[in-house]
Amino acid sequence: MSRIAYVNGRYVPHAQACVGIEDRGFQFADGVYEVCEVKGGRLIDEARHMARLDRSLKELRIDHPMPPQALKLVMRQTVSRNRVRDGIIYVQITRGEMRRDFPFPPAGTPPTVVVTARHHDRARIDQLAEQGIAVVTMPDIRWQRVDIKSVALLPNVLAKQAAKEQGGREAWLVDAEGFVTEGASSNAWIVSRDNKLITRPLGTGILPGITRSVVLDLIAAEGLVFEERPFTVEEAYAAREAFVTSASQLVMPVVTIDGRPVGNGAPGLMAGLLRRGYSQMAAVS
Ligand code: PDD
Repeated sequence: MSRIAYVNGRYVPHAQACVGIEDRGFQFADGVYEVCEVKGGRLIDEARHMARLDRSLKELRIDHPMPPQALKLVMRQTVSRNRVRDGIIYVQITRGEMRRDFPFPPAGTPPTVVVTARHHDRARIDQLAEQGIAVVTMPDIRWQRVDIKSVALLPNVLAKQAAKEQGGREAWLVDAEGFVTEGASSNAWIVSRDNKLITRPLGTGILPGITRSVVLDLIAAEGLVFEERPFTVEEAYAAREAFVTSASQLVMPVVTIDGRPVGNGAPGLMAGLLRRGYSQMAAVS
């Protein structure tokens, strides 16, 4: 079955889907995006993703392309037209298309909206979670507003590629003081030797992950011990467990950091508990 994309008001086959060469997303990475998990054809944690999208647009002063209800309808249509049961939906909104010039285009320039959906192999991701993943640390060279989910992801791309070339599936980005900020496309967590769950607090230095926020609710519901504070690479090396969270992988155990085994080198109990508990906490719509 050929894939269908939504582009500026039309549903079109992927091969014919296009935006203009002077789209500001293409020229300046002047746009934002969201990735939402689809499970059994339903959207997971949609309200939180929509709220974050709204915030990203506001922070960059990009107009809403359509009312939220209309966008939700487009997202559902895109999922169903592509017959996605388990996968992800991708929404990108840019400041629109205009002759290349740095300042914003004239008021009223319509934003560009692209929505795509794709299937993913849940069994393969679950299998990966049983093995755990390797992460590689590297300097965080991103801009100072990574709390905005903008499409300007070049440092993340370079970090992920470097991690891949070193046998890792994720890069952990490290700030100038030696603290881990987050993964190149996930939030980073450790479990200390005394069983405290530790992750960096929100701020301009990390993306406010939706999966992170749901895991925090789960931690509160389970009464687990939790500390929201930055942790160093050395602490991570010495941790009992480590894991990452993101919409596409949910809770994914980390078993090595820079080639050193975390804990006993196998996925940890806490990560397993949170991964299993996630579906009870996540909102389905
Ligand atoms: N990435 N941090 C970064 C830098 C991310 O890119 C992501 C998500 C996260 C986790 O956020 P959430 O739990 O809302 O998915 C944290 C998505 C999945 C992506 O870019 O594909």
